[in-house]
Amino acid sequence: MSTSSNTAPSAGPRRPEFATWMKQGNEITQQFLSFGRRPGLIALSGGLPAPDLYPISDVQEASCDALKKHGSAALGYGAVEGLFDLRKAIAHRLSTDRLSLAPENVLITTGSLQAVELIGKALIDSGDAILAEYPTYLGALDAWLPRLPRYAELPDEGPWPEAKFAYVVPNFSNPTGAVLKRKAREALLSRSAESGIWLVEDDPYGELRYEGAVQPSLLEMSAAPGAAGYEGSVVHLGTLSKTIAPGLRVGWAVGAPDMIRALAQAKQGSDLSTSTFCQAVALELIRKHADRRHVPTLVNAYRERRDALCAAAQEHLADLFEWRVPEGGMFVWMTARQSGLDTNALLPFALEAGVSFVPGSVFDPRGLVSPSLRLNFTANPPDVLQEGVRRLSRAAREFAALQPVAE
Ligand SMILES: Cc1ncc(COP(=O)(O)O)c(C=O)c1O
Repeated sequence: MSTSSNTAPSAGPRRPEFATWMKQGNEITQQFLSFGRRPGLIALSGGLPAPDLYPISDVQEASCDALKKHGSAALGYGAVEGLFDLRKAIAHRLSTDRLSLAPENVLITTGSLQAVELIGKALIDSGDAILAEYPTYLGALDAWLPRLPRYAELPDEGPWPEAKFAYVVPNFSNPTGAVLKRKAREALLSRSAESGIWLVEDDPYGELRYEGAVQPSLLEMSAAPGAAGYEGSVVHLGTLSKTIAPGLRVGWAVGAPDMIRALAQAKQGSDLSTSTFCQAVALELIRKHADRRHVPTLVNAYRERRDALCAAAQEHLADLFEWRVPEGGMFVWMTARQSGLDTNALLPFALEAGVSFVPGSVFDPRGLVSPSLRLNFTANPPDVLQEGVRRLSRAAREFAALQPVAE
């Protein structure tokens, strides 16, 4: 073989490129997704239900029944809108004296996050505005990133700026754990109606209530009493991820038939249909109310875990952070008493001490640094949560000692 010395050095193959939106993600997000896998680390960063509480025997029985009853249909492609009987079961379950839902009001999705994504796909052209609570759910920000939206903070009072939709997590929000009380819900509905803006109600945590009164859903409040079917402008999202298991990947969107048709059109190009097998399993679980029967077990365990984390925080963190004990859900949102503390910068100290949390910046649509952080209390037993808080306290003190003293 001959080598030629007079050929110009090759520049090599040109590197193919990724889309513009890929450059915009938050680096911290990429990091914390892998925290749970570090040996010895106590992960208070996840948003996960407790795996030791998954109702495995219920899922096993429902899987056998699904195959027995649905046969090969459970293993084929399904209708893009979802199994008719599952849509009917969800419509039936969410109907009340005021709200009468039909299967045409329901779209089955691959987890409720897919419904979040499809809403962006169906409604947002590049540069359109989304109204969101600040801070807001990170998964939603990630899901809408490819659509290149603008964000505006949902005003507490006064008229809404122009936007395609408003997004809220009214029950035990991710990340703050806050609940919207009835008056705030009424205000949202009247603003949405007067401005002609869709209102997205994302409700994965509503059943995980440890105390306090149940609030009516925005969907129900916006229904015209006595009307057959729902024609309003709320899109309500639900899921089996928190009451059964996230691995099922079965969620739903409920709304007016024209919205459901638009979301189905958007879904067709995403996955043709949600796993027919998982839908058949979900149908069997819902028919037997297995999720509802399982809720008290979850509520009792999670309340104990929340209390353990908050008691440990009261002992070890109260001089550094403040928080509200959440009435439900999975998260405690803590804010540093020292103004200007940057929880992005605190994070490496916490990891070094063997505990992870999610810094508030990732939940801010602008990505601004934040003095707040999110702790999960559902995925670890009480003694592990207590040790996690002790580690966080050590890390926060070490971090604070290295900060320049304000003149
Ligand atoms: C507010 C919110 N919406 C949606 C989801 C997605 O849940 P699913 O597993 O149903 O896709 C989550 C998951 O943590 C969430 O916190």
